[in-house]
Amino acid sequence: MARKPIQFTLNGSEKAVFVGEGENLIDVLRRGVGDLTPKFGCGQGTCGTCTVLIDGEPHLSCLTLAETVEGRAVSTVAGLARGAELHPLQTAFMEHFAAQCGYCTPGMLMAAKALLDRNPSPTREDVVEAISGNICRCTGYEPIIEAILTAARSGGARQYG
Ligand code: FES
Ligand code: FES
Repeated sequence: MARKPIQFTLNGSEKAVFVGEGENLIDVLRRGVGDLTPKFGCGQGTCGTCTVLIDGEPHLSCLTLAETVEGRAVSTVAGLARGAELHPLQTAFMEHFAAQCGYCTPGMLMAAKALLDRNPSPTREDVVEAISGNICRCTGYEPIIEAILTAARSGGARQYG
């Protein structure tokens, strides 16, 4: 398979990797640059656990061609915390028991971050819509919705952009 070099930023750090034709972003993130936080679930665009942000917008990394992130900014859960200080969304997820098995959590957090970045004061309906592409088999969604609303009310999510 022909491989081509691409450059992008991952959580603010410059990355340069060779990607194969047709290679998906999740494979490049997990195997190419060692960021294991985006999870592989369905691989078909239906579960949302592979959600990452590209230039601040949520994308399904299992359906995103890696070469399309050339020159763009990719954000994952690995970039949320500041050292030992969790992002307010992560803290709220802990406090609301919004993660049980945790498999959906990376995608939920990134979908929620994209929402709060563009709308710091979402309604419950906004939150439900924002995570509508993310499936959770454990929580029944209520703890996740409450966690996102709590993080929004704290206002702390804004400081991380
Ligand atoms: S693994 Fe990408 S949507 Fe399920
Ligand atoms: S916490 Fe298990 S799938 Fe959401």
